[in-house]
Amino acid sequence: MATVTMDKIVSLCKRRGYIFQSSEIYGKLNACYDYGPLGVELKKNIKEVWWQAMVYEHDNIVGLDAAILMHPRVWEASGHVEGFHDPLVDCKQCKNRFREDEISPEKLAIKQCPACGTKGSLTEPRQFNLMFKTHMGAVEENASVIYLRPETAQGIYVNYKNVMDSSRLKIPFGIAQIGKAFRNEITPGNFIFRTREFEQMEMQFFVKPGDDDNYFEEWKQKRIDFYNRMGIRKEKLRFHQHGPDELAHYAKAAFDIEYEFPIGWKELEGVHNRTDFDLSRHQEYSGKDLSYFDDVNRERFIPYIIETSAGVDRTLLTCLVDAYEEEELEKDTRIVLHLDPKLAPIKAAILPLVNRDNMPDIAMAIYHATKKHMNTFYDQGGSIGRRYRRQDEAGTPFCITVDSQTIEDGTVTVRDRDTLGQIRISKDTVLNFLKDKLVQ
Ligand code: GAP
Repeated sequence: MATVTMDKIVSLCKRRGYIFQSSEIYGKLNACYDYGPLGVELKKNIKEVWWQAMVYEHDNIVGLDAAILMHPRVWEASGHVEGFHDPLVDCKQCKNRFREDEISPEKLAIKQCPACGTKGSLTEPRQFNLMFKTHMGAVEENASVIYLRPETAQGIYVNYKNVMDSSRLKIPFGIAQIGKAFRNEITPGNFIFRTREFEQMEMQFFVKPGDDDNYFEEWKQKRIDFYNRMGIRKEKLRFHQHGPDELAHYAKAAFDIEYEFPIGWKELEGVHNRTDFDLSRHQEYSGKDLSYFDDVNRERFIPYIIETSAGVDRTLLTCLVDAYEEEELEKDTRIVLHLDPKLAPIKAAILPLVNRDNMPDIAMAIYHATKKHMNTFYDQGGSIGRRYRRQDEAGTPFCITVDSQTIEDGTVTVRDRDTLGQIRISKDTVLNFLKDKLVQ
């Protein structure tokens, strides 16, 4: 089987309308991407599956959508102003910029630039804060500096009492949120793997201190199971435990869920035991009491937090890479995305075999009857073989074809993307057939 490369994914994404380079007609904005008609559907479906697994499948997890812009003190309390840095070195010769940890110790010792090879050309490391700054209001002065959030988590922490009191929740409980985050990454790249603007799906689970280790284990397991449920191959997923030198400033323990991308094993999601670090710091910086009173045991404490933090864009890339296959057929190669039907942007393509004998009208009627319920697609352009191939590349699980037999007995063919098998069903049962397949 041909190996999947990042270049193949990038090219399919552009060809089929999944993902485009940002501001392309102006020569592009580096490491920023726009989601096209299929990309936006896949992204929406991923977020829905995550929301379902978090909020609807747990009776003690609720949702939140906090603002991207927050009070600047939030980022002092969280430790991001002081600690969210990457050490950066510049090459004086070729002007390339690197994270210090990307350069081998041998090259670092002689300050040799990895790009141009010049010895002695690297500068001393400088601490570079990854938060984007902007100004609030009309006056660009220091007092009005605010940040674009580098993680969605803090919006949950500062609202935890509001949510708990209004929803009458008792510990343990969780708050889930999906939203944009921004980091001025020194070395973004590998398509949508690392970008400066991205989306996170985060869930913060508030527990009693002492119960944290058990909940940490439970969430690790639930989160890796989630990717299996989305159809991601088990052998491509693994855990990576953070050593003491990798741990973020807030974490007592951290595991990454890694996926084997074409660029190697890389982090897809982080599961962190953040202890009472965040709430204690917000209590200290805001002067507000953020403790929890357990009225059964009559005790007061600052809850510990178990965090699960996934990237929407990285999950989307994982789904594409995992689903991609180049299948050798007798005459040529078929490129197909074996996306789980729940995630597939187009659920079915409705195709008249030829553009005569009333076939387009019947196909259009099926399209209109199904489109109200799910994202179906009508296509009458080109040979039926070409149209099938376009849908295979788009990841469409079913093609419904109206042919001459439809005129005679009212049945249509259903072509299965993965098996290439075809069956006939009544044209009036297409919607129910598709609905059944989507819940399997
Ligand atoms: N609140 C904890 C947190 O933000 P993180 O490990 O820094 O933890 C969590 O980020 C997830 O967010 C990552 O596993 C990844 O999926 C995604 N992510 C982080 N930085 C990213 C970037 N520059 N581009 C795309 N996704 C990113």
